[in-house]
Amino acid sequence: MQVLLTPDQIHKRIEEMAHEIAVDFGNEPITLIGILNGSLMFMADLLRELKMPTRIGFLRASSYRGTATRPGTLDILPGLVPDVAGRHVILLDDILDTARTLSGVVEFLQSLSPASLKVGVLLRKRGRQEVPFEPDYTGFEIPDLFVIGYGLDFNDDYRQLSCIGVLDEANIDQAHHPEVISKAVHIVSLTTE
Ligand code: XMP
Repeated sequence: MQVLLTPDQIHKRIEEMAHEIAVDFGNEPITLIGILNGSLMFMADLLRELKMPTRIGFLRASSYRGTATRPGTLDILPGLVPDVAGRHVILLDDILDTARTLSGVVEFLQSLSPASLKVGVLLRKRGRQEVPFEPDYTGFEIPDLFVIGYGLDFNDDYRQLSCIGVLDEANIDQAHHPEVISKAVHIVSLTTE
């Protein structure tokens, strides 16, 4: 595994994003809505940097890939979304890839009549977007690589890493969890010394 972003780089950028949000909203109350599971760490760290009154909520969104002629449909489970009518909402996701998930979730949230709706992503992959979409807050633009850690998973694993890393694609199926985790912890400890 290679470290793409260290915990330090992530936290500095999240502080800056919180400042961008403060410039836009001042002391107005906002509601952060995170897409589970990937946005968990991003949400928790951004939330700690915000000074205005902030509510939170979550939803799940899974896309089923369609055929070449028919795009996949998006299944949204909104069970943990609070009442957002008339409130300023910021939707958070870990990564913008094809943008299909965020486009679908934005359409859903608009139907709940928020006062305003903005979107923040920690990562944006270059050259992958399939539908037009511009997030309002972007942490980092990254190359088209499969990333793990800081909420992002491979087969539902590695979410607990405090860095963001790239698994070696040649050996991706043989990646052994304890070795990858201890290597990540080792690399991160070197970069933060
Ligand atoms: P779309 O393509 O709709 O998808 O923008 C966004 C969702 O796809 C997942 N995704 C990834 N997850 N490493 C991951 O762990 C990646 O490199 C990656 N690329 C996309 C993620 O769930 C995101 O919310």
